[in-house]
Amino acid sequence: RTARLALDPAFTVGPVPRRLFGSFVEHMGRCVYTGIFEPDHPSADEDGLRTDVLELTRELGPTVVRYPGGNFVSGFEWEDSVGPREDRPRRIDRAWRSVETNQFGLAEFDTWARKVGTETMMAVNLGTRGLQEACDLLEYANLDSGTKFADLRKAHGSKDPFDIRLWCLGNELDGPWQTGHKTAAEYGRLAAETGMAMRSIDPDIELVAVGSSSRAMPTFGEWEQTVLELSYHAVDYVSLHAYYQEHDGDAASFLASAVDMDLFIDQVVATADAVRAKGKHTKKINLSFDEWNVWYQTRPHHAPGVQPWDVAPRVIEDEYSVTDAVVVGTLLNSLLRHADRVHIGAQAQLVNVIGLLRSEPGGEAWKQTIAHPFEQVRRLATGNVLQVVTTSDKYETARFDAVDVVDASATYDDETLTVFLANRDQEDSASVEVPLRGFGVDRVSNAKYLAAAEGQDRHTTNLEGDHSAVGLRPLQDVTVTEGLATVVLPPLSWAVVQFR
Ligand code: AHR
Repeated sequence: RTARLALDPAFTVGPVPRRLFGSFVEHMGRCVYTGIFEPDHPSADEDGLRTDVLELTRELGPTVVRYPGGNFVSGFEWEDSVGPREDRPRRIDRAWRSVETNQFGLAEFDTWARKVGTETMMAVNLGTRGLQEACDLLEYANLDSGTKFADLRKAHGSKDPFDIRLWCLGNELDGPWQTGHKTAAEYGRLAAETGMAMRSIDPDIELVAVGSSSRAMPTFGEWEQTVLELSYHAVDYVSLHAYYQEHDGDAASFLASAVDMDLFIDQVVATADAVRAKGKHTKKINLSFDEWNVWYQTRPHHAPGVQPWDVAPRVIEDEYSVTDAVVVGTLLNSLLRHADRVHIGAQAQLVNVIGLLRSEPGGEAWKQTIAHPFEQVRRLATGNVLQVVTTSDKYETARFDAVDVVDASATYDDETLTVFLANRDQEDSASVEVPLRGFGVDRVSNAKYLAAAEGQDRHTTNLEGDHSAVGLRPLQDVTVTEGLATVVLPPLSWAVVQFR
């Protein structure tokens, strides 16, 4: 298999948006409880935070973390999660049919986010609640003092405001499963009113309107159009959510999931820009891809034995394979390719629930396979994203027709050219030509790949043993001759190669 990239330092998509490499912590399953927070765990610190998970999270380095949901937020009463812990109520969480103890809440999340060194992206409940409660929460979080909710925060022990810049106006309200599901017109109006009211409290916040829960939603397109027509003046971003999985052993189509992500982004950009034109607006609405991942949604959501109204049940604890990691690498490529308009990304979710990380109650914590491409791209994508024209051999898929065998994205920061590559062919290696002329680079400074090692197959995960079966290995087969690099990718692999 062969492919050739065309790239030039002069042709850029735009600066790498730092918020592109975010993640998501929802009060769902064991993401919070026995995920990031477990006071009885041997590694717990003075705040009850698991330092083993904290350390792994710091290594991943999510630049922004969305909180507290997800479907959870559409029934969330934020007041339950603040103040003395002993006074906080246990509440049913309708979304995941579990019990929320509220032992971890806003102040605890703020502490965790500061220890990680990440930005908070806060979602408000526009399912069962509305404008007033969103404003109360914003006042509690961002105003200094002298008003009811700002003073309440101080009385609760948080002297300084949390100072949250990024706010989601609800979650997936286009979905019939969502508590408080709405029509686009109902939601668009509510988003506009709530957004304007929130801005009147803190003019510097950035607001994300709910977009479609997937490109397959029957209302996709029309939803974005109506919502943005009604709320364009009040919001900065529109959200996208997408989860991919392998259906009936069709790995070929699954490996091509980024084709759908590319299309989804292009179509939301087109819709937002059409509303911009029709409304004679000058500002652009950018995109917040604030839930994305591989998720085997057709499998049972709850683990065997989980009962309704359990606390921190095992919910969608997907174990990720080599194949899943390669797909995640291509989804990151898709986000980078659209860095001019996708300014925020949040991989869903951080730990246990379709997690980059896994942690056992009282036990170990480790990186899933998909954590590796996430961490590498977050660390190594710097400077500007380059326009990459890929000319690749193709392969047939049932869902997307003929698809490029090699998927690519690249960044350049005046010193280092970084190329992220995936080989979707399950049998053959792929030889990729990368022209280096014009970049002032002539040697390989770093080359790593992820693929099934000897004795493994594409289904191997990190569940067993010491949890490191699938990881990164040095990629040896990279040569540079007269301004042309040739990278040979093993079958079904993801790789990063840097040139200096
Ligand atoms: O991330 C899991 C769930 O997926 C979220 O709660 C919801 O927003 C989405 O449907």
